[in-house]
Amino acid sequence: MNCAMSPDGKIAGAERRQLRISSPEDMDRVKRLRMECQAILVGAGTILADDPHLTVKGQPTEKQALRVVLDPRGKIPENALVLDTRARTLVVTLEDCTRQYQGAETVRLGKGTLDLKALLDILGQRGVSTLLVEGGGETIYSFFRAGLVDVYSVFVGDFIIGGRESPTPVDGEGFRLGEHVPLRLVSFERLGSGVHLTYEVRRDA
Ligand SMILES: NC(=O)c1ccc[n+]([C@@H]2O[C@H](COP(=O)([O-])OP(=O)(O)OC[C@H]3O[C@@H](n4cnc5c(N)ncnc54)[C@H](OP(=O)(O)O)[C@@H]3O)[C@@H](O)[C@H]2O)c1
Repeated sequence: MNCAMSPDGKIAGAERRQLRISSPEDMDRVKRLRMECQAILVGAGTILADDPHLTVKGQPTEKQALRVVLDPRGKIPENALVLDTRARTLVVTLEDCTRQYQGAETVRLGKGTLDLKALLDILGQRGVSTLLVEGGGETIYSFFRAGLVDVYSVFVGDFIIGGRESPTPVDGEGFRLGEHVPLRLVSFERLGSGVHLTYEVRRDA
């Protein structure tokens, strides 16, 4: 899990447009992280808001990580950059979604909500042992809710975004008392004007 947030805990403004929160040093770190991972995943909300291509510039197609998009109801636009030819793409929909995607493979998993455990099994069968989840808040929450997060990495930038409607790293329904996800701080480092924190999810708590 990796994202960038403001010091007041927001990953974008209330209008949900893409914001550059990472420092140049953090951008370099994310680039290295993307190159180390075999697959990179985002939710449909991030595709609609940011239209990311999820590739590393200058790398040939065969060296790019597999791009994975959670699009349960088939709502991402046909011309989304994640469907281009710069890397392979897997789109995950619900079983009753009939949308076909030009330029991407489709897997249909689950009724009502996506079966993330089944998705990880499918990725594992394809040799993917490191999956980088980059957001947004609904997607990160659903991975935490399913108990599928090993490492949570967050860069804290240097400006306040504010707003009760602004997305945070972990949105969704939230966790009730007794359900909170325990973490262990593994490292912290200054990266330019911000700080990068790495936590492991505690399985022993
Ligand atoms: N600062 C950062 O690091 C960073 C990174 C990424 C994104 N962002 C920001 O985050 C915002 C978008 O976040 P978001 O929370 O709205 O969108 P999101 O998490 O990218 O996508 C949410 C959508 O993905 C689908 N989804 C995710 N998990 C699912 C599950 N387990 N089962 C079924 N469907 C699932 C649902 O689609 P349906 O709605 O079709 O059901 C859901 O509404 C944007 O403002 C973007 O700029 C910031």
